[in-house]
Amino acid sequence: MNERNKTVVTFFILNGFSDIPEYEAPISLLIVLVYLTTVVGNIVILLLVCLDSHLHTPMYFFLGNLSVLDICYTTVALHKSIDMFITRDNEVSFIDCMAQLYFFTWFGCNDLMLLTSMGYDRYVAICKPLHFSTLMNGRVCAGLATFCWVFSFLHILPAVTLISQFSCYSSNIIDHFFCDLLPLLEFSCSDTFIVKMVIFIDGGSLAVFTPFFLTFTSYVFIIATIMKIKSSTGRRKAFYTCSSHLTSVLILYASIISQYLTPSGTFMSSKLLSLFNSAVVPMLNPFIYSLRNKDVKSAIQKKLKNVMNIL
Ligand SMILES: *[C@@H]1O[C@H](CO)[C@@H](O)[C@H](O)[C@H]1NC(C)=O
Repeated sequence: MNERNKTVVTFFILNGFSDIPEYEAPISLLIVLVYLTTVVGNIVILLLVCLDSHLHTPMYFFLGNLSVLDICYTTVALHKSIDMFITRDNEVSFIDCMAQLYFFTWFGCNDLMLLTSMGYDRYVAICKPLHFSTLMNGRVCAGLATFCWVFSFLHILPAVTLISQFSCYSSNIIDHFFCDLLPLLEFSCSDTFIVKMVIFIDGGSLAVFTPFFLTFTSYVFIIATIMKIKSSTGRRKAFYTCSSHLTSVLILYASIISQYLTPSGTFMSSKLLSLFNSAVVPMLNPFIYSLRNKDVKSAIQKKLKNVMNIL
C-alpha cells in the first residue's frame, strides 16, 4: 500500500449505480417501487396476523416477526439509495455507514434465525403433532423470537466493532449502494486479517451454516415423516403446510449462495445480486405466504368483506 494513498476517512461516497448511467434512473425507480411494495405487503401480513384470531398460531407469530424484520432489513439497505435518487446526495458519514453496516448484518442474521425457528415449528407440527401445543406454546414462541433478535444483535458485535475501529482507507468511494461488509473491507488499509477470520469463523459457521444445518435437518425429518403417511391426500396436506416456508427458505439460501459463494464475478453482477437479496427477497415473503396459503387467503377475504360492509 502506497503511503500517500492512505486517507483518514470521515465520510464515504456511495457510487450506487452511477457506473451504468443509462440505467441509473430506471434502477432507482424500480428500487422505490420494490421498496413501497415490500412495506405495504408486509404491513398487510402484519395486520392480518395480529387481527385475525385464526392466524394466532406459532407459524403466523413468527411470520409477523419476519414481516417486521423484512421491513427493517429493506429500509436499512435501501434508504440511502432512495435518498440519493431524490436529493443526489451520495455522501454518508463514517458513523452512519457503520450504523448501516450494523443494522444490515443484524437483520440479515436474524432473518436466517427466524426462518430456522419456523422450520422447527414445522418439524414439531408434522413429526410430533401430539406434543405440538406443549412444545410450541406461547412462551416457547416468544422466547425463541426474543432469542433470535437478541442473539443476532450480540453475535455481530465483535466483527462490526473491529471494523468500526478502522479509520484508514485507500479510498472513500464505495462502489455499492449501501455500506456493506465486503466493499468496506476492500478499501481498508488497516489490518483486516483478524476481522476476516472473525467473519469467516463466526459469520460463516455460526450465522449461516448453523441455521442452514438446523433447517436442513428439520426438513429431513419432515420429509421422512411425510413419506410414511399412507394416504396420498394426507401426504399432500402435510406437505402443503410446509410449502410456503420451504419456498422462502429455498429463495433465501439460493440468494445468499449466489451472492457470497459464486467465484467473484464482475462487481456489477454482485451489486445486482445484492439488490436482489436486499430488495426483492423481502418483497417476496408476503406473496409467498398469501398466494399459497388458504388461511391467509380466507383472512384477507374476510377483512375485505368487513371493509366493504363499513363502506
Ligand atoms: C415478535 O416477537 C416478539 C418477541 O418475542 C413478540 O413480543 C412480538 O409480539 C412478535 N411480533 C409479532 C408481530 O408477532
